[in-house]
Amino acid sequence: MDTTPNKPSKNKFQRPRGTYDILPKDFKYFDKILTVCQKQAHFYGFKRIETPIFENIDIFNRGVGEATDIVEKQMFILKNGAQGLALRPEATASIVRAYIENGMTNLSRPVKLWAFGPFFRHEKPQAGRFRQFWQIDFETIGRNSPVIDAQIIQFFFSLLTRLGLKKLVVGLNSIGCAKCHSRYLKILKLFLRSRQTNLCPNCKRRLKTNPLRILDCKKEKCQEIVATAPQILDSLCKKCRANFKEVLELLDSLNIPYRLDPFLVRGLDYYNRTVFEIFLDQEKDGQKSQIALVGGGRYDNLISALGGIPTPACGGAAGVERIINVLKEQEIVPPEEKKPNVFLAQLGETAKPRALNLFEEFRKANILIAEDFSRDSLKAQLGRADRLGIKYVLILGQKEVIENQIILRNMETKEQKTLKLDQIIKEIKKILNK
Ligand code: HAM
Repeated sequence: MDTTPNKPSKNKFQRPRGTYDILPKDFKYFDKILTVCQKQAHFYGFKRIETPIFENIDIFNRGVGEATDIVEKQMFILKNGAQGLALRPEATASIVRAYIENGMTNLSRPVKLWAFGPFFRHEKPQAGRFRQFWQIDFETIGRNSPVIDAQIIQFFFSLLTRLGLKKLVVGLNSIGCAKCHSRYLKILKLFLRSRQTNLCPNCKRRLKTNPLRILDCKKEKCQEIVATAPQILDSLCKKCRANFKEVLELLDSLNIPYRLDPFLVRGLDYYNRTVFEIFLDQEKDGQKSQIALVGGGRYDNLISALGGIPTPACGGAAGVERIINVLKEQEIVPPEEKKPNVFLAQLGETAKPRALNLFEEFRKANILIAEDFSRDSLKAQLGRADRLGIKYVLILGQKEVIENQIILRNMETKEQKTLKLDQIIKEIKKILNK
């Protein structure tokens, strides 16, 4: 996967900035991740859902939040008669829309849904940050127990471990309920106002629109201020504190390594109570790695915000490119697809249709077989089989078709023998011990 920024090229047409082509050599990573997800989803009882790639923009305005970076700056809004539509920047709001619209409220709870697909954010392209990226998203809708929060974290931790990733750590915080939230906002605003001259211009503006987002700011000066800011955990009400304590106890009992991150608030407005991210616990050039592989949390108010009956929910999403990067860094290479051991060569006009037919018979018998039917020369076909490293070549000519025969050539010993055409699948099965 060539994710490096586009270089100047003579070619007029290049991929858009912040995007990449998934080349055949990289599909083994995508396939591996999808296969592990499918197994893990099945075991945990999640059902797959896919929503459209674009949605009514209000779903994200209301769901993700109008004063978030994602909605304010990063949404791809569609033009040309499609006003009011945007490419989806994330999955949760769309899944909730689909949950309400398709009457899933009537299903027995919890409703567990998962999705795997591309998402779009107009971000500044950099390592691990693309404008089109893939996410695996898991949502549990309908229960407010802390067990669900712990289980979602356990789910992602187990998924990444199953993929072979090591040195994972969960960053964790609770942002409380609406009451804790407003109490904290007052305290935070007071603190930030007294330091506003040192905030970046964006955060000065956020102080009025959405002060919590200042805690996410990556600017050094703002981070220095945030480091000494009051912590939301100190503003939690009794219920939220007990709830968070239970999540932590459950994670302790699951032996999932976590660190409390008092300033983790996540960049989306729909969260309440538990929020988390999963990182690689590693240092590069003396700096702790801060690239999150997974992000998520509880969102008990999103379903009602999008017009459904109030329903608690919790979920998370993992970034596929970021997982692939770590797989590559940690030299975890998924196995290559199985290669064929047999090649079918054909010679002459009568042999061609019979060869096409025979190829399909091999497919039905579940035996991998390679071919190069567009070539007529036997030498060229044998050359291709050789390059593919295939041991057995079947040669079907006009004469063989008429006499119900086929030639089997061993490419290593160069030995050839003639076999019955209508028995060839059986013979090959014997040879390959199938
Ligand atoms: P998020 O933290 O915005 O959360 O994204 C989740 C993950 O997607 C990140 O941890 C990261 O791995 C990946 N990701 C995000 N943006 C990019 C990007 N521009 N390029 C590459 N990877 C990226 C959400 O999207 C929430 N919907 C998660 C959630 C589900 N919360 C509850 N349920």
